[in-house]
Amino acid sequence: MPPAPPPPPRNFPFSLLPATPSPASIENLKSNIENSPAAVLTLADLAAWSRPGTSLAVLGHPIKHSISPPMHNAALAELARTDARFADWRYFRFEIHPDDLPRALDLLHEKKFRGVNLTVPHKIIAFDRVAEVDPAARPVGAVNTLRWSESGWQGFNTDGYGLASAVQETLGRDLAGAHVILLGAGGAARGAAVECLQRRCASLSIANRTRETLEALLATLTPVAHGVPFGGFAPSAPPAGLPSGALVINATSAGLRPTDEPPVDLTGLPNVAAVFDMIYNPPQTKLLRQAEFLGLPHANGLSMLVHQGAKSLEHWSGIPAARTAPTMAAAARAALGL
Ligand SMILES: NC(=O)c1ccc[n+]([C@@H]2O[C@H](COP(=O)([O-])OP(=O)(O)OC[C@H]3O[C@@H](n4cnc5c(N)ncnc54)[C@H](OP(=O)(O)O)[C@@H]3O)[C@@H](O)[C@H]2O)c1
Repeated sequence: MPPAPPPPPRNFPFSLLPATPSPASIENLKSNIENSPAAVLTLADLAAWSRPGTSLAVLGHPIKHSISPPMHNAALAELARTDARFADWRYFRFEIHPDDLPRALDLLHEKKFRGVNLTVPHKIIAFDRVAEVDPAARPVGAVNTLRWSESGWQGFNTDGYGLASAVQETLGRDLAGAHVILLGAGGAARGAAVECLQRRCASLSIANRTRETLEALLATLTPVAHGVPFGGFAPSAPPAGLPSGALVINATSAGLRPTDEPPVDLTGLPNVAAVFDMIYNPPQTKLLRQAEFLGLPHANGLSMLVHQGAKSLEHWSGIPAARTAPTMAAAARAALGL
């Protein structure tokens, strides 16, 4: 995969809203929005929003590579085939600069968007701006799903559910009772660590390149550990006492570029049982290639993306995630050309 493009400028050039909209261009805008939920929309589009149907959105910076819109719109179209309530549901993407997030969230609430997904870098910033945080999301300190309520946004985090479901689906393993070696100490790793501990994994060993970030993460985990042993180590020097037969989960961004070296050498870990990499594009990182070479069960993060998305839709629609996940998976694969 080529290196990630630089973030778009504040005045993103693909806004569907002309500077001074005429009545005709507003009609045109509405029709564009209705017919092109895949377009990259902006804060200006949001300010002019008057779509009457049920709207959902993902906000990010950058956002144009997100495959959440095709995933969700495929699931909504499938639901609408048998349930007329979903006929006017659409999911849109918005390029929102972090400085504009408070305004965007206010506008989305005012325009009565039913639900919002948040991706990089908004998950942590939004945490402090929701009226009510789901208790399971509190120790993560980040929300990726918002649901409209009269009194303000309700915040959830479906990434942990996505991870646990994906590990079960792709590797046939439960996080509960597993020895887990987690690579990374950023936002995704924090969510994964909390999920592993809340599900009572057997042990959790976290490796991160930067020691300070690792220590900061470890310091926050004690309240959710419930007696599960956890600790940290430097990926360049795995300690002798690591558990044998561990599930290795990569939550670093090392591997997003095909030239990236893997965050750890699997042969330096004792008797690894399986490897899960949260990265799904490219579909095979060097870490997964090494797992394949070593004959280890392994999977990329596509299934995690699908299951976190299906859980978000469950929060908005009440439709169980298990029902929409297969359609989302097919749409995600198609969007990635797989
Ligand atoms: N499949 C899914 O649904 C899903 C969901 C969430 C996230 N993800 C993926 O998870 C990854 C991490 O996301 P995030 O939000 O946690 O990012 P983040 O907060 O920026 O954290 C990045 C982490 O990667 C480490 N890292 C970066 N470059 C590295 C390198 N060259 N070698 C070793 N470690 C490196 C960082 O270590 P330092 O502390 O040393 O900088 C840090 O621990 C991304 O690839 C993202 O796409 C996937």
